[in-house]
Amino acid sequence: MAVASSAHSTIFSRTSFFHHINGFKRFSFCLPFSSSAAASISSKKKWRQPVASSALELGGIKIAKDDVVKDDPTNNVPDTIFSKMGMQLHRRNNHPLGILKNGIYEYFDTNYPNLFDKFDDLCPIVSVKQNFDDVLVPADHVSRSYNDTYYVDAKTVLRCHTSAHQAELLRRGHTHFLVTGDVYRRDSIDSTHYPVFHQMEGVCVFTPDNWQASSLDPTAYAAEDLKKSLEGLARHLFGAVEMRWIDAYFPFTNPSYELEIYFKEKWMEVLGCGVMEQEILKCNGRSDSVAWAFGLGLERLAMVLFDIPDIRLFWTNDERFTSQFSEGQMGVKFKPFSKYPPCYKDISFWINESFTENNLCEVVRGIAGDLVEEVVLIDNFTNKKGLTSHCYRIAYRSMERSLTDEEINNLQWNVREQVQEKLNVVLR
Ligand code: PHE
Repeated sequence: MAVASSAHSTIFSRTSFFHHINGFKRFSFCLPFSSSAAASISSKKKWRQPVASSALELGGIKIAKDDVVKDDPTNNVPDTIFSKMGMQLHRRNNHPLGILKNGIYEYFDTNYPNLFDKFDDLCPIVSVKQNFDDVLVPADHVSRSYNDTYYVDAKTVLRCHTSAHQAELLRRGHTHFLVTGDVYRRDSIDSTHYPVFHQMEGVCVFTPDNWQASSLDPTAYAAEDLKKSLEGLARHLFGAVEMRWIDAYFPFTNPSYELEIYFKEKWMEVLGCGVMEQEILKCNGRSDSVAWAFGLGLERLAMVLFDIPDIRLFWTNDERFTSQFSEGQMGVKFKPFSKYPPCYKDISFWINESFTENNLCEVVRGIAGDLVEEVVLIDNFTNKKGLTSHCYRIAYRSMERSLTDEEINNLQWNVREQVQEKLNVVLR
């Protein structure tokens, strides 16, 4: 499925690294160019951003809104992100993400009875050390930037991957574990990208007696076991599909791979994985061991398995969505209840040096929340004076109802105002 195949690809792979550099990461140019307001009047009620409650409890830790959203230059967490922090969609057994998590648990429990420890309630607020240093992410890696990661302060982030927990769990003596959780990344807006999504991490540690019984060296032994286990997982989820292994790059594994499956006439990336860098084991009390690790995006897989066309649907409370899924029902196909008309609005401005698309998307989400479906760069030129102009097309569409002209115009008006004010650009 085209839309789902790009849902939150792993950011640490080299390919996505380059996508970042060329500045056109995941941009699609396929929307119709006319800007039409196809809105009908069904609801007079004004749409409002859900109000973030002021305190949460995560993994046994009490968190106040002020702890996460701060008026400080080292903080870039907006209210809209805080309001998602206590949701824990992956812990709802009737939700596609919870059903998928349980489906993966089932695979590991059947094939490795009582072996894997499971964590799905670890606090998403972690140190820069946990998120990056402990898993050997280089100091100049793009994923560390304020443009890509939500910083609570200079030393604290909202985890951008579940690998942030590898080191601490190894240190605590765990040798086989699965960590599921919400992860946070600043990103562009389209049907497969949302600034909060869910990952599952798996780690399996081997001791010398494991590989000594084979004729393989430790790394080859771990790589072979990794491939066998994950091929089994892919078959458990997708049935008898064709698979292939692609060489990849992650700072924390070597060798590194991506597993792809041939599904609905396309090759689709299922997960990233590899043999854990020895340095990580050494620093966490396991110098005598080797290990494998994998990380997978739950939304990416759930969109394909349950036929869910838009990533925003995972967050809806609309019963027409939620009532279609129940515990243990893996892969029940979602029946769209209705498709409401989109409305396209364009905005053009002269950018400045600090302009980034992620910042623009944050402003748009801050105003329109889940009513924004896509933000696409449709025109880009530099004039003789060296000024660069960008034109973005914003698609507004509700998953739940038709939007009125009035509310879309209001949203767009606010977007224009705040883009100018917060991003310091000159509207055209
Ligand atoms: N943490 C990686 C990502 O989010 C995925 C991964 C996990 C890759 C473990 C290899 C091993 O991009």
